[in-house]
Amino acid sequence: MNTPIPMSAPDLTEAEITAVNAVLRTSTLSIGPQIQAFEQAFAAYTGTSHAVGVNSGTSGLHLAMIATGVQAGDYVITSPFSFIASANCILYERAIPIFVDVDPRTGNLDPALVAEAADALAAGGTAARRWLPPRLRDAGATGRLRALLPVHAFGQPADMDPLLETARNHDVAVIEDACEAIGATYKGRRAGTLGAAGVFAFYPNKQITTGEGGMLVTDYQGWDALFRSLRNQGRDVFDAWLNHTRLGYNYRLDELSAALGLAQIQRIEELLAHRAQVANWYNQRLADVELVERPFIAPTTTRMSWFVYVVRIQPPASRDVIMRRLADAGIPSRPYFTPIHLQPFYRETFGYGLGDFPVTESLGEVSLALPFSGVMREEQVDLVCQRLHAAVKQC
Ligand SMILES: Cc1ncc(COP(=O)(O)O)c(C=O)c1O
Repeated sequence: MNTPIPMSAPDLTEAEITAVNAVLRTSTLSIGPQIQAFEQAFAAYTGTSHAVGVNSGTSGLHLAMIATGVQAGDYVITSPFSFIASANCILYERAIPIFVDVDPRTGNLDPALVAEAADALAAGGTAARRWLPPRLRDAGATGRLRALLPVHAFGQPADMDPLLETARNHDVAVIEDACEAIGATYKGRRAGTLGAAGVFAFYPNKQITTGEGGMLVTDYQGWDALFRSLRNQGRDVFDAWLNHTRLGYNYRLDELSAALGLAQIQRIEELLAHRAQVANWYNQRLADVELVERPFIAPTTTRMSWFVYVVRIQPPASRDVIMRRLADAGIPSRPYFTPIHLQPFYRETFGYGLGDFPVTESLGEVSLALPFSGVMREEQVDLVCQRLHAAVKQC
């Protein structure tokens, strides 16, 4: 019997184990040399002036929201086809996520709709009303657009040029959720470095992992200092011990995690290449499987950073039926993403329901993430594809 195929798995070597062990032999388990070295290596890799380590991608998104100066009741345009953290970080600052539907091919924000929404929100009144969450429509639009928060879903960059233009037209910041997209490039430029700040994440299913962890990158010196203060209970770099200048958080990345991250970023090209190889095996084997649509890569994506391998199950086959058949055959798979506006908290708080973002909803119904990691072997990909083929043949 073969060992079960996991949904995801980290790509670790002796180098990572040695690096973490070495930290355990010191007395500095937090705020030490490892985080500094990891940040320096990360900034060098992304080509940004600053990189600030935090204890999750979500923490990084929260701090980026604070840096934009967003106030309670302000608006931030973002994607409903994402992992929930990219919208929650807006709510942490009591601002309002304004969802805009996505491009049906990539699942990333549709830039034309974003421009329309930004113009309407600036105009206010009835023009703005349609873009507000249902429960807030009758209260009138009193907020101000403060930021755009595009997500590079599945490791594919959003169409950034028109989004950056909309942001310029409205004088608002762009914060990139690059949590799934380390190493991806858009027209030759690195995802996560195109806006005012970018956020990366290192959960164990990510391209590089620190266990839990994240990284903010920015070219603004002032934001670098602000992020360092906010992640460390509001102390300024020049603060005396236990002097807290502003409301801060404990979002620090510990030394063990940073050592792991440093060893991983040193292997980044190899890690991305492994994942690209696995995606390639899938692409080859699924080329002629009826009712299974392979991932679409936009012409603007000059490098895909494979985070997940997500296929679309076409009617008359049903994604949920295929998922059950795969599970019965011992193959895990997941719906990815479940639209954020349809999550119970968002339905209850904002009055969202089916029909609000049709493209996102249709993608949410057909998208199926197959087992995927850089350590997946060719025969495992073979097995998943055989079982998937068998599952759709019964439709
Ligand atoms: C698009 C996106 N945003 C944000 C996050 C949050 O990252 P973390 O789980 O490290 O808080 C993730 C990670 O799962 C993600 O995929």
